[in-house]
Amino acid sequence: MSQSPLISVSYISKATQDMGVLALMRLTDQAVQLNQKLGLTGALFYENQHFGQILEGPRTEVTKMWERIQRDPRHHQVRLLKMEEIGERSFTAWSMRFFLAKEIIAKMPNLTSVLDGLPENDVELLRLMRIAAE
Ligand SMILES: Cc1cc2nc3c(=O)[nH]c(=O)nc-3n(C[C@H](O)[C@H](O)[C@H](O)COP(=O)(O)O)c2cc1C
Repeated sequence: MSQSPLISVSYISKATQDMGVLALMRLTDQAVQLNQKLGLTGALFYENQHFGQILEGPRTEVTKMWERIQRDPRHHQVRLLKMEEIGERSFTAWSMRFFLAKEIIAKMPNLTSVLDGLPENDVELLRLMRIAAE
């Protein structure tokens, strides 16, 4: 596995079509398998045609995957929240942990309102995604 420093990338985006359960499972399966091979970990959120994702791992792999993800026709309006070097991973056990935001809305009603993605909400959104994934 690569020795490059660990970084994390977080973004939000909008699904180009309403994703059914099957499409979400296919996407997550694909992500889990490839992430395992590449040493990537993270969390993926989906609610009402909005995605949110935190992806972490060696810089080289994360950067390549980030390029790939941005080109994926299943979503658009991909907006980077943060890209930063990290000392350690937050999602050691998960090659990609998937959340339907509905599951966590009871805990955090703010999440859906900020998932709609006004730029001034970026910091709050990232904070909520991290808390939700804890
Ligand atoms: C919202 C979203 C998140 C994704 N996250 C990952 C991921 O974490 N890991 C992954 O391998 N692919 C992810 N993908 C899929 C990639 O964009 C891409 O389809 C996959 O890596 C296979 O690459 P290929 O189509 O070039 O073979 C994601 C796609 C979307 C739409």
